[in-house]
Amino acid sequence: MRVLVIGRGGREHALAWKLACSNRCKRVFVGPGNAGTIGGPGGKIVPISLDPMDFAACVRLCRNENIDFVVVGPEDPLAAGIVDALQSEKIRVFGPTKAAAQLEASKVFSKTLMREALVPTADFQVCDHPQIARNYIDSQIESLVIKADGLAAGKGVIVCDNAEDARRAVDRIMVREEFGQGVGRKIIIERRLQGQELSLLALVSGRCILRLEAAQDHKAVFDGDKGPNTGGMGAYSPALQASPELLEKIDEEVFVPTVHTMKRRRIPYKGCLYAGIMLCPQGPKVLEFNCRLGDPETQPVLMRLKTDLLDLLEAVVDERLEEFADRVEWDPRPSVCVVLASQGYPGNYPKGIPIYGLAETAKLQNVHVFHAGTSKDHRGEVVTDGGRVLGITAIGDTIEMARKRAYEAASLIRFTGMQMRTDIGKKALATGTGRQT
Ligand code: AMP
Ligand code: GLY
Repeated sequence: MRVLVIGRGGREHALAWKLACSNRCKRVFVGPGNAGTIGGPGGKIVPISLDPMDFAACVRLCRNENIDFVVVGPEDPLAAGIVDALQSEKIRVFGPTKAAAQLEASKVFSKTLMREALVPTADFQVCDHPQIARNYIDSQIESLVIKADGLAAGKGVIVCDNAEDARRAVDRIMVREEFGQGVGRKIIIERRLQGQELSLLALVSGRCILRLEAAQDHKAVFDGDKGPNTGGMGAYSPALQASPELLEKIDEEVFVPTVHTMKRRRIPYKGCLYAGIMLCPQGPKVLEFNCRLGDPETQPVLMRLKTDLLDLLEAVVDERLEEFADRVEWDPRPSVCVVLASQGYPGNYPKGIPIYGLAETAKLQNVHVFHAGTSKDHRGEVVTDGGRVLGITAIGDTIEMARKRAYEAASLIRFTGMQMRTDIGKKALATGTGRQT
């Protein structure tokens, strides 16, 4: 099969790598890809020029390259309807339709659906005018979180310590429109929750829900969860906070009612449904839904997946996912991904900075360097080209060993202004040995 992965991040590099491991896969094109999406297992990975938002170009590429199967990585093309566009041309594609992708693309849609489906989530209020929002904030005594309704590259959520912060957040989202025009026409004001976070990815097709192994992301830019939120500075899997009983409860209280309610609304969900969960003292609550695999969660999760990924994703599209119930195989060893980011990220950052040490890390066993924001300069040298640059992902007998390996590999990489968190996976150490039972 000839497969096309759409996107250019660390998640897409990991997807391409895992798909290329499939015996049935002859070629994996990655459009537009990055400096790392070339070669890979069997030399099958090929970068190809593509604008993921230009659906006519995507259709043309599929025709010209005889693509048998498309996997869409990021949320923007999904929310804009890439799956509908490809399906109407009879191209097989993994991902939810535009209507179903609203679960991520509109926070108002997802929060009201959660309310209807009785899915546990923070209490909230929808506001469509800044003055109404300010009045509501003044009437609250709890700490609040302000969320833009629309997609804002992970930046449209502002966690506030006090009412002054919350009013400022309303101003930034609704009045100054810092996160984009129209993105903050409506906002969600919700109760701030406390606890550890969990990222759960589930493959969904028809009535079948197949949850992948749990992961924990590290959203804040600095150690100790300090500083502003990013797309994710590192992740590990399995998340030991997630006992089998807790995961079962989340299946029953979150995934099943959400998928059923979407079906009842005649918007069946097909693809990967990502639930961001806060483990609160009262029980798990949903922070957000995403309509795609997580980045960087995908990197450690796929490093542990033993089952053929192409088989799994095809089963979703063909609505025969139940064939894999209780049959997905995992490496029991934990995996850790440490993100190396550009100076200034998640704010403004420079691009085009040379990256050194990639050849040394390529020789390491049990380590994968997934590229994210990288490209090649005019001399063919790998340079930075984004906020999150590389995801160093390692597997080990214990979480401690996986951590050590990932950080040893990271220490071989150098680029000016490189920043990383030094505490990825530390919470798992506090929880247990890191070995799954
Ligand atoms: P979201 O895009 O809604 O997941 O928000 C991004 C991040 O903001 C989450 O991963 C949390 O770290 C944080 N966050 C969102 N909602 C809340 C909340 N109600 N309470 C505390 N933190 C939150
Ligand atoms: N790592 C968070 C996300 O993919 O949304």
